[in-house]
Amino acid sequence: MSEKASKRIEQLVRELNEHSYRYYVLGTPTVSDEEFDRLMGELEELESAHPDRVLPDSPTRRVGSDLSGSFPAVRHEVPMLSLDNTYSEADLVEFDARLQRELPGEALDYLAELKVDGVALSLTYENGLLVRGVTRGDGVQGEEITPNARTIRSIPLRLRGSEDRCEIRGEVYLTREDFDAINKEREQREEPLFANPRNTAAGSLKMQDPRLVADRNLSFFAHGLMTPQPQHDRHSESLDRLEQLGFPVNSERRRCGSTDDIVAYWHEWDRDRESLPYEIDGIVVKLDALAQQARLGATAKSPRWAFAFKFSAERVRTRLLKIVLQVGRTGVVTPVAELDPVLLAGSTVSRATLHNAEELERKDIREGDTVVLEKGGDVIPKVVAVVESDRPQDARPFDFPETCPVCDANLVKDESEVAIRCVNSGCAAQLKGRIRHFASRTAMDIEGLGHALVDQLVDRKLIGDAGDLYSVDEKKVVELERMAETSARNLMNALERSKAQPFHNVLFALGIRHVGATVARTLADHFGSIKGLREASVEDIEAVHEIGGAIAASVHAFLTDENNAAVIEKLRDAGLTLEGEEQTKAGSKPLDGMIVVVTGSLSRWGRQQAQDAVRSAGGKTTSSVSRKTDIVVAGENAGSKLEKAKELEIEILDEDAFARLIGVA
Ligand code: IVH
Repeated sequence: MSEKASKRIEQLVRELNEHSYRYYVLGTPTVSDEEFDRLMGELEELESAHPDRVLPDSPTRRVGSDLSGSFPAVRHEVPMLSLDNTYSEADLVEFDARLQRELPGEALDYLAELKVDGVALSLTYENGLLVRGVTRGDGVQGEEITPNARTIRSIPLRLRGSEDRCEIRGEVYLTREDFDAINKEREQREEPLFANPRNTAAGSLKMQDPRLVADRNLSFFAHGLMTPQPQHDRHSESLDRLEQLGFPVNSERRRCGSTDDIVAYWHEWDRDRESLPYEIDGIVVKLDALAQQARLGATAKSPRWAFAFKFSAERVRTRLLKIVLQVGRTGVVTPVAELDPVLLAGSTVSRATLHNAEELERKDIREGDTVVLEKGGDVIPKVVAVVESDRPQDARPFDFPETCPVCDANLVKDESEVAIRCVNSGCAAQLKGRIRHFASRTAMDIEGLGHALVDQLVDRKLIGDAGDLYSVDEKKVVELERMAETSARNLMNALERSKAQPFHNVLFALGIRHVGATVARTLADHFGSIKGLREASVEDIEAVHEIGGAIAASVHAFLTDENNAAVIEKLRDAGLTLEGEEQTKAGSKPLDGMIVVVTGSLSRWGRQQAQDAVRSAGGKTTSSVSRKTDIVVAGENAGSKLEKAKELEIEILDEDAFARLIGVA
């Protein structure tokens, strides 16, 4: 009896896998859904009666439920590199020219493929069976998510053909339709909606319960095959082989013999991308001959025989109503565009930075112009160009003033920078900026001292510097707009509490140019007190590990300035901590209370490990950069988040600096 059951189980598994393949890979099912379900039901019954006979490629095993905890890290046998990418045709021509130089006289055949916007996945098969699914991770090691990979129905559990051992790489993605269905359901359950198919696919692959992953209906395209012994001469042949093995391979691939062919393919798909049932963000071009690929090799980050040509980020046009100037706490004057509000990549945009005067002049941006805005991912929108044909006749080039729009002092151009600065350190705009910085969470953390209140305190001359905050009259605060007795009392309490902030916070709060939270900590550690630091010469400061000449000069100049000395005296009188006794306090961790974003790939840690490291150093990690972010740790290939951090003037650390900060260097 059991022999018979065994045979039937084998037969059912074979049949059901065949039906799945026809349905999910070929899209040409040969049985009805009812018939499929009936066979599946029979198999489930037999398996539960004979649990010792369950086969490793049984379709019932696509949804296991035995996974708990986070995923184990697995080192990739061959690193999962990323691709160099560009948006420009000129780079495409240069890519081809480089390959011609490096392979002189040889014919170059390319294979152009669609760059499906999903997440990379590596699949390992042994003796024809799927044994492992691993995410890209940091490229060197990824997370093993085999039970989740099994839920993807177009991934064969058993190869259709013999192959001892092989690794398949490809892209997990969600079709637009499946993505919409997920969001529709979430809407009904009043759950927050997902932003896009790519992120949803990435998140789904990492869910702890494979049953939930199965519900997401993820899809897969294979785009690379690795076997111990090379079996083909061309990449295109290995894609054909992948199809024979039972994988879905994108059928829109095309052999290209010239850059013209590639450009044509690129334009075609840029135009037609919306017609596809899934999202693509560009094309991938690969040298087709594997021998040529091998000779070109790879850099640490990417193969030298392949390139991604992306489609441009989303762009829209709108009217630039007015150019206004913002004066920051260090006096830098930044032109900002006020725009006719417009929807771009999912949010309404009404302001965009114009960076600096040079940029304004180079792009010849004028009030009244129609401008082209661009935003990719979570990058702050920027004005990429002006539509000159739409320019009103009376539009004049923007006249960058020679004096500060706030205090009328002279504006000067920094020798070494493109920045234009207001030279008056007493400028109200600078003062407001300094006070906001002083009160910010990583500095003195004075809750309730927001923009509107700072503006009023400065405008009504209740304070002239940060030192005055501690002697401000509570009765006067009560009288301010939108203030009352309770809010004034709360502010007083917050001020009182801030006096307990450690010395390095105070040093950071002073807003010395080039002194971020990390530098402040280094200086506080080294000199121990404001007195020690003030007595140090520029050379003494520069001699401290990690402190460069510009920082040293800036610190020295700040502390020897009479006005600053007066502020520091007020702070001392108020009882702030100007010595580093906190160093000896037990339990204080380097990232206590800080919000950290890790972006790009790091060599010491995988993404998950880096996040763990942040947490054990007392910090919290978030995935997107905002004004609340304290530190951005930027690894290799950090992209939009790094840009945003620069935009928001958030402290940026490279991997080494981060390692030192948390004490693991
Ligand atoms: S080949 C050595 N082909 O794009 C790089 N990648 O940075 C091998 N991608 O996350 C990648 N479609 O997963 C290749 N047809 C395609 C692709 C593709 C999407 C993804 C890949 C990786 C990123 C490249």
